[in-house]
Amino acid sequence: MTTTTGTTTAPGALGSGRARVEGRDKVTGAARYAGEIPFARLAHGWLVLSTIARGRITAVADEPVLAMPGVLTVLHHGNAPRVHTDYVGMLGRPNPVVGLFQHDRVPFVGWPVALVVAETPEQAREAAEALVVGYEEEPHDVAFRTGRDDAYRPEDSPMVEADTDKGDVRARIVDAAFVVDAEYTTPEEHHCSMEPHAATARWDDGRLDVTDSNQGSSWVAGELAQLFSLDPASVRVRSEHIGGAFGSKGLSAHQVAAVMATTALHRPVRVAMTRRQMFSLVGYRSPTAQRVRVAADAEGRLCAFDHEALNLTSGVHEFIETSAVLGRVLYDADAHRTRHRVVRLDVPTPTWMRAPGEAPGSFAIESALDELAEKCGVDPIALRARNEPATGPVSGLPFSSRNLLACFEEGARRFGWADRDPRPGLRREGRWLIGTGTAAASYPSGAGRSTAAVTAEADGTFTVRVNAADIGTGARTAMTLVAAEALQADPDLVQVRIGDSDLGHAMIAGGSTGTRSWGWAVRLAAADLRERLALGGGIPAEGITARADTADAIAALPQRERHSFGAQFAEVAVDVATGEVRARRLLGIFAAGTIVNPLTARSQLIGGMTWGLSMALHEEAVRDAATGGHVNADLAGYHVASHADAPLIEAGWVDDPVPGDPVGIKGIGEIGIVGVAAAIANAVWHATGVRHRALPIRPDRVL
Ligand code: MOS
Repeated sequence: MTTTTGTTTAPGALGSGRARVEGRDKVTGAARYAGEIPFARLAHGWLVLSTIARGRITAVADEPVLAMPGVLTVLHHGNAPRVHTDYVGMLGRPNPVVGLFQHDRVPFVGWPVALVVAETPEQAREAAEALVVGYEEEPHDVAFRTGRDDAYRPEDSPMVEADTDKGDVRARIVDAAFVVDAEYTTPEEHHCSMEPHAATARWDDGRLDVTDSNQGSSWVAGELAQLFSLDPASVRVRSEHIGGAFGSKGLSAHQVAAVMATTALHRPVRVAMTRRQMFSLVGYRSPTAQRVRVAADAEGRLCAFDHEALNLTSGVHEFIETSAVLGRVLYDADAHRTRHRVVRLDVPTPTWMRAPGEAPGSFAIESALDELAEKCGVDPIALRARNEPATGPVSGLPFSSRNLLACFEEGARRFGWADRDPRPGLRREGRWLIGTGTAAASYPSGAGRSTAAVTAEADGTFTVRVNAADIGTGARTAMTLVAAEALQADPDLVQVRIGDSDLGHAMIAGGSTGTRSWGWAVRLAAADLRERLALGGGIPAEGITARADTADAIAALPQRERHSFGAQFAEVAVDVATGEVRARRLLGIFAAGTIVNPLTARSQLIGGMTWGLSMALHEEAVRDAATGGHVNADLAGYHVASHADAPLIEAGWVDDPVPGDPVGIKGIGEIGIVGVAAAIANAVWHATGVRHRALPIRPDRVL
């Protein structure tokens, strides 16, 4: 059961609760997903993944398999076409796993070693399972733990600096009245989108045409063009409906395999992943080990803040889980230090997963702040209020808007925080110990270059073309409302077309940037169109089209700290006889700029919060040191919160005007998960008096 409240600031279409424009198609089955779009003469590819964690392929016994019913071809490193992986794409260098079948080396369990293509998926699967691959095995290492002496400082990337330093942490800690110095760990976690990755590739009149499930078809089309050395204009990627995507739906092995196979066979080829394959092919959230040192004076003012985060990456590609970036936004101190360190193991490369960095990072620092509040004898919300920075703690830049305390005030009021007895272990209801906890949340509000076209049609309607990706968020509906508002038109007169790289370049649905990025382009185009329509004259049969590109507007934006903020609250019940933790209530109050569509915004926020609950109590991928592979690579063994685990979850928001901002819209895709695990862990402490610094808070850890 969920409820929501919240004020809306914008008049007209923006802020009106509107059901998804494609909702009927989705619930009636008319909306087709990438793995179910029919094509004439469609062939089916099945990926074969390595069973060893490190070594070389010595042989791929394809001949017996080629004789099996329906089998059309077997692609592997001995016969696959060469691809070009030495490029920098829209979001950096490609993960080497997309350099499919280019060599005989195996860097982890689940590395793709072959693709079997057949007339039917069943024939392809049977042949793939029969394919014998010979290996020369080498020793592997998959053990992630702190204290490894091979942890190293990662390269600074355009997205993040590995380290920041201000002042002398050691000196400030020595002088402090209260110090918390603790290690927090989070496990390997997986995306588990409902729809597994799938793509169909075909050549259509000299153009490569790919139907896919991804977070940005401009992005995937650009990567495929680079990889296969094609003219970008000759690649079209469509991604109309997407059954969830949380950072993993970019370019992966399946699209590359489908393109290779359609090129070899001259017929459409579909490659769909199994749930189990997703655990090694599409990235995941790295486990983290984080040391947090926070120190305060007698009044609870922070004098030192130090966050050092370790994550793993693969032997073939560097990925940083940016856990320590959150403290660069939330807390200032005279001495302020953040560190990222990485260790290379024989495992697949991790990737972005909903609130990459902030999700595990918030567990560590928001738990540590709670521990500090306890030591100082200060209420956790009062401690945060006492430490609100005036400007970015590391950057010194002003905040575009920062309404964190308003979130805490509104949240405390609705949650009933004022009545809370801060002492732990005092409340009992039968066999349950009851506790409450809170945590702060923040997530960046960025924008990426996008283009849009808005057409006034001769029949009085409007058509909006913007290459957004609706990953389940309601992006189509949000763009309908943004356009209707900008055109001062009835939303029912606005048709929005998305999910097709031929619509022009647009930002991905990622990094909580989608609505802001696409909405910006739509607004610019709509404003231009309105000016043209104001000149009068009729509308010709082909309509009147205005186009916009946000590149210049983004470049002209003044430098600011731009973030969404939030306050998370949790009430838990802990059964100390069985170790079971039940979340009873979650409340999140957010400051996230203009809320475009309260109906879908609420869904996104409570979706993120539900995942935070799942992260706190359930999710954990486990690797077997001997084989290097997972022992629970499916939804039976990898536990995600089910409906029965989800309590009363409420999400709301406070007014958050962004002065001088040309869009006013921030992101809400990721902030929902941030801080939830800490709020729950803090509530478990309040219930029991025991701190849990390792996720998930499993029954055996509670006992
Ligand atoms: Mo999100 S992790 O930016 O898809």
